[in-house]
Amino acid sequence: MRLLISAGPTREPIDPVRFLSNYSTGFMGLQLAREAIRRRHRVTMVCGPIEEPMPAQARVIRVERAQEMAEAMRKEAAKADAVIMAAAVADFQPVHFARLKLKRSGRLTLQLKATPDIIGRLPRQAGQVRAGFALEARGVLDKARAKLKGKKLDLILAQDAQSGRGPFGRTSLRAWILEGNGKATRLGMRTKRQIARLLLDKVEALWYGQRGRTSSS
Ligand code: CTP
Repeated sequence: MRLLISAGPTREPIDPVRFLSNYSTGFMGLQLAREAIRRRHRVTMVCGPIEEPMPAQARVIRVERAQEMAEAMRKEAAKADAVIMAAAVADFQPVHFARLKLKRSGRLTLQLKATPDIIGRLPRQAGQVRAGFALEARGVLDKARAKLKGKKLDLILAQDAQSGRGPFGRTSLRAWILEGNGKATRLGMRTKRQIARLLLDKVEALWYGQRGRTSSS
């Protein structure tokens, strides 16, 4: 399969020396890429700033802002059999970029606007499998189900942000896989490596399942 995987945070610049971002390390997306390569898939990664080493066999496109990630994903998704959106896209970006470094004095009010919904707005390709992530602190399954539907995904990996030692880096989290047909599979506490394997199993099952149906009809 040709897999497109996004990973890591985005950075939304405030001025030439400051940005808004989050604590994502990109570890989940990298585990997915490593496992996919191990299974002999062709992997393209669109990555925000990540310090971890990239798998040598992956084609890697580095981006910084949500807008750049959206553009790279749109271009690459046209050639992908499956898209897995594991990036922790910054939810907000400053409305104005200050071209000169802001002075530290008194108070500063930043006006922010929502970043584009990257996976939710990707043009649909026939037969393409789409998977996303949802990290929720309360009402995990209901919120993940709403995202699955709202973003028109085939699969969503729902994670309980309150479980384990927090969501970032090399941690284990309580997780579920939800499918477009309403099926929910409880995975329990899992490492990110295990989550990557289980999610790829589902992506492969959907892709090869539908190809089987097409070729036999
Ligand atoms: N996502 C995206 N573009 C964004 C934000 C999120 O494509 N601007 C993707 C994430 O990579 C993830 C899924 O959408 O696969 C859910 O991300 P999440 O941050 O939980 O969803 P949001 O739409 O940002 O909703 P919330 O207000 O709960 O943060």
